[in-house]
Order: sequence, then C-alpha cells, then structure tokens
Amino acid sequence: MAKKLIIKSFPNIKKAGQRNFNLKPLTRKANLNISDELSTWAKGKSFCLFTSGCQANVRDSEIIVAYLTRLGLNQITDPYKADLVLFNTCAIRENAEKKIYGEIGQLKQSAKDNPNKIIGICGCMAQEEKPMRFIKEHFPYVNLVFGTHNIDSIYSLLDSCIKDEARIFDVTSNQGEVVENLPSSRFDKTKAFVNIMYGCDNFCTYCIVPYTRGRMRSRSIDEILKEVNDLISLGYKEVTLIGQNVNAYGYDLKDPNSSFDKLLEAVAQTNIPRIRFTTSHPAYFKEEVFQVMAKYSNIMPSLHLPLQSGSDTILKRMNRHYDKKQYLDLVDLLRKYIPDVYLTTDIIVGFPNESDCDFEDTLDVVRKVNYDNAYTFIFSPRDGTPAYYMEDKITPKEKSIRFDKLKQLIDQQATISASKQVNQIVEVLFDTVSKKDKTMISGYSRHNRLVHVKGDESLIGQIRKVKIIESRTYSLIGELLDD
Ligand code: 5AD
Ligand code: SF4
Repeated sequence: MAKKLIIKSFPNIKKAGQRNFNLKPLTRKANLNISDELSTWAKGKSFCLFTSGCQANVRDSEIIVAYLTRLGLNQITDPYKADLVLFNTCAIRENAEKKIYGEIGQLKQSAKDNPNKIIGICGCMAQEEKPMRFIKEHFPYVNLVFGTHNIDSIYSLLDSCIKDEARIFDVTSNQGEVVENLPSSRFDKTKAFVNIMYGCDNFCTYCIVPYTRGRMRSRSIDEILKEVNDLISLGYKEVTLIGQNVNAYGYDLKDPNSSFDKLLEAVAQTNIPRIRFTTSHPAYFKEEVFQVMAKYSNIMPSLHLPLQSGSDTILKRMNRHYDKKQYLDLVDLLRKYIPDVYLTTDIIVGFPNESDCDFEDTLDVVRKVNYDNAYTFIFSPRDGTPAYYMEDKITPKEKSIRFDKLKQLIDQQATISASKQVNQIVEVLFDTVSKKDKTMISGYSRHNRLVHVKGDESLIGQIRKVKIIESRTYSLIGELLDD
C-alpha cells in the first residue's frame, strides 16, 4: 500500500519573493527534544549524508550531523547500508539538481530491499516547489523532505516518519528565524565557518537564494563573538564569517553598532589567528571595512568580490545596484588599503540577451582588475526568478564560446598571479594530508592560495613558513622552513 503523504506546506515562490523590510528577525533556541520512540528506533542504526553547494550548506550539514549523532545514529559513507540517507542539496544552477535526481535514482533497489529505509532531501532544492513535486511523483521512496528553515525540526520529522509510516514533506516557508544554540559537529579541526547572517534581500534577478533561504536575518554580535571565542578555546586557528551578503550584516537590526565593519573589528580583537569572510556584495561596501581589514593583521588579505557582469545594461537587469565604474572604483579603493590583496570573483556568462558588446565589457573589467582567480558560470534559468521569464535570443553555442574565452583569460591571469609567488616566503595554515600521496600535506596561505609541501599530519593545525618553489594555475608547491 502506498504510504500516506503529509505535506506541511510548499513554499509559494512568488509569495516568498515579496520583500518585507519591516520584518524583525525572530531569535529562538533550537529544539533538541528527542521522543522515547525515536530514541528506541535509533538504536544500532546508521545514517549517510551527502552535501552539495556552498558554505551555508556545509555549515547546515555540520548541524544535521550533530543532531543525528546526538540521537545515537552512527555516520557511515555507504548509502546502500545506511538506515537513513540524506541529501543536503543546492539549487543555484540546474545541473546541481539534475545530479541529485541521478543519485536518488540509484537508491531505488536499496529502498525496495529495505522498506524501512528513510531517504530524505533537505537544503535549497527542498525549498523549491517544482523539483519537490517532481520528487513526490517520480521517487515514491523519498519519504522525508525538509527545507533550510526547519533543520532543528529534524527529530519531530523523523518521529512522524517512523510513527505514521508516512512520507513527510515539510518545507514551511516562514520568512526565516535566527535559531541559536544549535548543536554542531564541525568537519574541520582547524578552520570553522561561522554564520553571521542568513538569507538574502537582494533579489538579483537570476538568483534563487532569496527564495530558498528566506529574508536576510543577522545574528547578534554577542552570539557571533561567543561562537568565535568557543572556537578559540577549542584550538581553532581560522574562522570564515559566512552569509549570502556579509557586508550587509546588521541592516536588519536596529542597533547602530551592528554593522559589518564593527563586527569584523570585534572578531579581530578576539585575537583568533586568521579571519576570512564571504560573500560580499559590491554595492554594500563601506570604506570602514577596508580600514578595519588594513588595521588588523589577523584579517586575511583576500576578498571575494562577485562582479557577475561588466556591462551596465546587464548589471541593471540583474538588479545588482552598481555599475562598471563603481565596481572598478571599489577595487581601486580596496587596493589603496590592501595593495597586495588576493582578489577573486564570480562571473555569469550568457545572461538573457547578453550582447557581444555586453560581454566585451565583462572582459574589459577582467583585464582591468586582473583577478587572482575567478569562478565563472553559464547562466542557468531558475524557475520563479525574474530572469527565468526574460527573453533570450543568445544561442547555447554562443554562450559556450564566450564562456571558454572568459575562462581562458581568467586561467591566464591566475597562472601569472601564481607564478609571482615563486621564491616568496608565505605563512601556511595546514589542514589536509593528500589522499593520493600521504607524504604531502596542504593548506592555505594568508592570501588564500593552496600550498602543498612534503610533510606529515603532525603539521595539521600549525601555521608555518613555507618557501614557494613552483607554481601551477591554482596551487603552489613549497618547502617547509624551520621556524
Ligand atoms: N546561473 C548561473 N550562475 C548563477 N549564480 C547564481 N545564480 C546563478 C544562475 N542562475 C552564480 C553567481 C553567484 C554564484 C554563487 O553562483 O555568480 O555569485
Ligand atoms: Fe543571490 Fe544576489 Fe543574494 Fe548573492 S546577493 S545570494 S547572487 S540574490
């Protein structure tokens, strides 16, 4: 007999997209209650979690793992053996979604063999109406779906799954809350992501994020500092302050002390050895942020500053709130304060009706700025976003030619930038032993360059001086120096 379907609510994308600036973020404590039935069910059981997407998803997965291990489930990597398989998904481009359908498809037989197996989807894709309707119809063995807003309901959702033997689709689209006190199982022992805000209010016309992650909500400075101080006492060497638009931090809080420059300065004063932050929006930068970056040596000299397009026409249609000149002026200002800044960006090629001229403007900005690295994407129409409905006469072939041209230019710039590091002495925070060659260890320099050296795992968590001896496009080879 088909399982009962419980749908708490599907988000209505159009409705979710409406702005509501008067909304005050609601802060509450995480729900940690475990029912007796759930606790009994969990005995001897295991889970497997797959994570795709950005830092926000990685951080959410750390919280999910903590919830599940706290319940007594054992984490394993084999989805065929696990009693609970969860996919923490990304919705930013279509290919990320297609990949998930393939992966769920592979579990069909395993679900048949074990009718008690729970197969779940969470993350951004779970907040989208169409993909979830597709999953409901085409993958009847997916029996748990929850969105980005209700991770801390995981126990009660699992409870319903077990008790009601039902398919639970819970993607309640509240405007978003700030949930504190969440359990956390950090994947890395030296570097940590710290959420400083959730959601996004920018509504760039191509982007699905404001619909999947809700309105912008900043955490309080006190909660953020508490988390950073806890990480310091656990021996962490680096924090990355994360959010969809970190330099808009505090806009939604009515406290004048809650601005990104003030937060950054307060975090720097904790004396954690390394601080990074991502992602920034060019339209929100205040000079004060650059001043703070220049003042504190524990704020790393690197910045990810998404350009998206160099064309004024396209930037307007993307709803980005800056033009080509303003972006270039911002880069000049940044380099005035931090001349050697490691600068990276995101660029979308083939936005609807992007002309040759528009694309030339993008190349022009890339040539002028001379990036150290860049992430380039072909525009992917996301259902429900304004750009999805825009007329587009540009052929996929044209888009792919432009993409290759841009990629070539970026690779050229990255190769030259990396080659200038040869013979330099850099400080590296080591975090990973190479999987292929156990005698190699890697980490990142202050400028966020990936550096490999000969060494063993005793170096993990240490910041050491390294002489660079060889460069590749996106990594460096070095020799460890004695301290
Ligand atoms: N198509 C292609 N790229 C996109 N990005 C966001 N939405 C889309 C889309 N619909 C890119 C942007 C953003 C990065 C995280 O992903 O460049 O900065
Ligand atoms: Fe998406 Fe724009 Fe918000 Fe970034 S700033 S998450 S691209 S809407």
